[in-house]
Amino acid sequence: MPMAPFDSITAVYTPAHAWMYEAIVAPAVYPSRHVIDEHFLPFLAENAHILDVGSGGASFTKYIADRRPDLDIIGLDLAVPQVKRATRRMRHYGERVRFRVGDATRLDFADGVFDGVISYGSIKHWSSRETGLTECMRVLKPAGPLLITDADRSTSFDDAERFIENYRTPRLLGGINLAIFHTWIAGRSISLEEARDLADPLDLVDEEVSRIPGMPLVMISGRKAG
Ligand SMILES: C[S@@+](CC[C@H](N)C(=O)[O-])C[C@H]1O[C@@H](n2cnc3c(N)ncnc32)[C@H](O)[C@@H]1O
Repeated sequence: MPMAPFDSITAVYTPAHAWMYEAIVAPAVYPSRHVIDEHFLPFLAENAHILDVGSGGASFTKYIADRRPDLDIIGLDLAVPQVKRATRRMRHYGERVRFRVGDATRLDFADGVFDGVISYGSIKHWSSRETGLTECMRVLKPAGPLLITDADRSTSFDDAERFIENYRTPRLLGGINLAIFHTWIAGRSISLEEARDLADPLDLVDEEVSRIPGMPLVMISGRKAG
């Protein structure tokens, strides 16, 4: 079995990948959650139905569920261990937060059924980023918000260095973590330029493609036209 993070690309998270991400990397990504408050939640009406694509261990699903107890949320992930982990973690939230196995590039939902679609840190893994985004737009209702974030391959060294300071590992591993982040995580993700190209064909109103300030992360946001 390929061992995290030294396999070519983590398509399906094994329990080892999930543990590494949740225990070490996620605490560094979590400070970016303000983009959810700025670019996603304000555009959702009361009791909106939303999809979290690549929900993983549910860090951000939980954040959204806590901020907006009125929302009905489906978290979707390609990896069975992640769906089990998220279901266990969110078991006290009841029916309003549910998880299922699925592939971003082949969403098993009818057109226009979600009031909002979010995906955090997952697009770099999709077998086709273009198809995944087309799928996210397909299942989104007109005027619904889309928010996609992931590591920025074109990040500055300073932002990457500050980011890995929040990794939950001994500080002396900083250099190694930085190299791994640059090579295996951001190195396999999208650059700001690629994010712009990916967003271009999407029919988004108030489209914004930008770096998340001070972080080695990039985001695509907007609302479906129509
Ligand atoms: C870095 S984790 C992010 C998890 C979570 N969104 C977070 O930010 O904490 C990426 C997740 O995307 C999932 N994933 C990878 N490819 C996928 C695909 N094609 N469709 C759905 N999920 C996918 C992985 O299994 C993994 O759980």
